[in-house]
Amino acid sequence: MKQTVLITGGAGFIGSHVVRRFVRNHPEYLVVNADKLTYAGNLANLTDIEKMPNYIFHKMDIVNRREVDELFEKYRFNLVIHLAAESHVDRSISSPDLFIHTNILGTVNLLNACRAQLTAGEDTLFYHISTDEVYGSLGAEGLFTETTPYDPRSPYSASKASSDHLVRAWFHTFGLPVVISNCSNNYGPNQFPEKLIPLAINNIINRHEIPVYGKGENIRDWLYVEDHAEAIDIIAHNGKRGNTYNIGGNNEWKNIDLIKLLCRVMDDKLGRRSGESEELITFVKDRAGHDLRYAIDSSRLTAETGWVPRHDFAAGLAVTADWYLENSRWLQDVISGDYASYYEEQYIKR
Ligand code: NAD
Ligand code: DAU
Repeated sequence: MKQTVLITGGAGFIGSHVVRRFVRNHPEYLVVNADKLTYAGNLANLTDIEKMPNYIFHKMDIVNRREVDELFEKYRFNLVIHLAAESHVDRSISSPDLFIHTNILGTVNLLNACRAQLTAGEDTLFYHISTDEVYGSLGAEGLFTETTPYDPRSPYSASKASSDHLVRAWFHTFGLPVVISNCSNNYGPNQFPEKLIPLAINNIINRHEIPVYGKGENIRDWLYVEDHAEAIDIIAHNGKRGNTYNIGGNNEWKNIDLIKLLCRVMDDKLGRRSGESEELITFVKDRAGHDLRYAIDSSRLTAETGWVPRHDFAAGLAVTADWYLENSRWLQDVISGDYASYYEEQYIKR
């Protein structure tokens, strides 16, 4: 094994696609997936690769310094790809403290463990996976570039911005080799159904209302999750130390237009009358501090590495809808946990 790679949060949505890609595409690497298995982490996302000889899972809480140090003592990682986080903006509004612990303190524990290895003379690259939300909110025009000033507005984005700053501080102050990428909204199989697209798919299947915040005029830039996983693989191998890379789909959608498109896709797949799912759309109270628009300029990544998003949105959405329809057991299992009470707090009582 030439490389020992730690992927944190590898049982989550994006992490599971990154783990699969590394296990399959880099058979010479030992891939260690360390995840606390919160409500968002699910080993069922990885059943197809769990018996591969170059894959190991460790249940670990990144906030627990002892657990982190023990894992690093055991493996001496050459590469750390850090995805573990609390990731849902609405949950950060109702429970901000958890986001501070996991996203900030958890990141510091990993940085310190990498630094200890560096001090012991062993090189390691710390690759931090972050979000376009650190840049704040755009008006009708313009794109976020890597030099856009940080302006986070939600507890989630503020916690991710803090962790980005800390990663850069460990680079400048302690010489730790780091790289950061900031990505737009991902969609695809295995996404927890609290996020807009899988939430809408689940509600359409069950003929429940589709809650659209405000007037549905907020805009997001959607990227298929496997395109993100490919970008992460490329940056892990070719990214310049100390650099930041924006990753986006060049695929902006107003929420209401996206939901209407998804309704048409689902009517077709479920053999329902055209327009039936659209009747489920319900405008609800807006998210507090709801950022209007995110849009990403990924030209630095494309210029340096040639990466471009491969998946067309219509095709990606169809594959995603099919995946949820074919994996009703997965869907039932993940929503049978704390999700019912979360959904009631979030939508029924608001
Ligand atoms: P997710 O919520 O689906 O998964 C997060 C994973 O982290 C889960 O498996 C969870 O169990 C694990 N985790 C949480 N707390 C932990 C802890 N204390 N210790 C160890 N593991 C812990 O998230 P996601 O959507 O896959 O996002 C992954 C990363 O990518 C996050 O850092 C997020 O900020 C970033 N990101 C997400 C998006 C997106 O659209 N989803 C876009 C850009 C960046
Ligand atoms: O931009 C990257 C970010 O994208 C990631 O860093 C986050 O981890 C990820 O959760 C996502 O954040 P968003 O807040 O943009 O995603 P979400 O799916 O929660 O919401 C997408 C848009 O849809 C947003 O404008 C809010 C709106 N929305 C969301 C939900 C859950 C609704 O209108 N109704 C809903 O029920």
